[in-house]
Amino acid sequence: MNSSWVLDGHDIVTAFNLSGFQKIVDLGGCTGALAREMAKAWPSSSVTVLDLPQVVEAAQKHFSQEEDAVDFQSGDFFSDEIPPADLYVLARIIHDWPEEKCVTLLKKIHDSCRPGGGVLLVEALLFENRRGPVTAQIFSLNMLVQTEGRERPPSEYTRILEKTGFHNVQVCRTGKCYDTILATR
Ligand SMILES: C[S@@+](CC[C@H](N)C(=O)[O-])C[C@H]1O[C@@H](n2cnc3c(N)ncnc32)[C@H](O)[C@@H]1O
Repeated sequence: MNSSWVLDGHDIVTAFNLSGFQKIVDLGGCTGALAREMAKAWPSSSVTVLDLPQVVEAAQKHFSQEEDAVDFQSGDFFSDEIPPADLYVLARIIHDWPEEKCVTLLKKIHDSCRPGGGVLLVEALLFENRRGPVTAQIFSLNMLVQTEGRERPPSEYTRILEKTGFHNVQVCRTGKCYDTILATR
């Protein structure tokens, strides 16, 4: 998972102009690979990775960097408080969960999000008719086997985001394996 952001991370974090978001929190950011791309592309922002304690411990043991551009924070995004921020990144997170858990998480994020802030979803978007792209279909099958979630088309993300209070939903198909959706509070 780390490697996909070494390859595609730059295209993902520059799909939208994120220069206006000062404090960025990558929820479930794992090793920090995407967060580091974010910090490189938007150097005036501060970027924090929040993940489960055992994951943060392993990330710092195996993926730490000298003068790291990102901070790590341990926490559970379902049961702990979500730190206030201007932008929350959820990369390959929403696709892990059924809709009711996505709604719970996005409502929590909406409550913690600073005014003018937003949320950036990074997922492999299905076509609206779900007949492709093949990579997104394969990822969806993988989600079915390994998680409680699935890949979704843009309209489903838009509906869930609007249900949880976000608006101005913008979708960018990057042409890479993953796409981005930006919504504002
Ligand atoms: C599919 S991975 C995505 C990792 C990373 N965002 C990426 O795109 O490479 C899901 C991540 O969510 C984290 N995670 C799962 N449940 C969590 C929770 N309740 N609180 C915080 N992080 C969680 C996992 O530890 C894992 O790092």
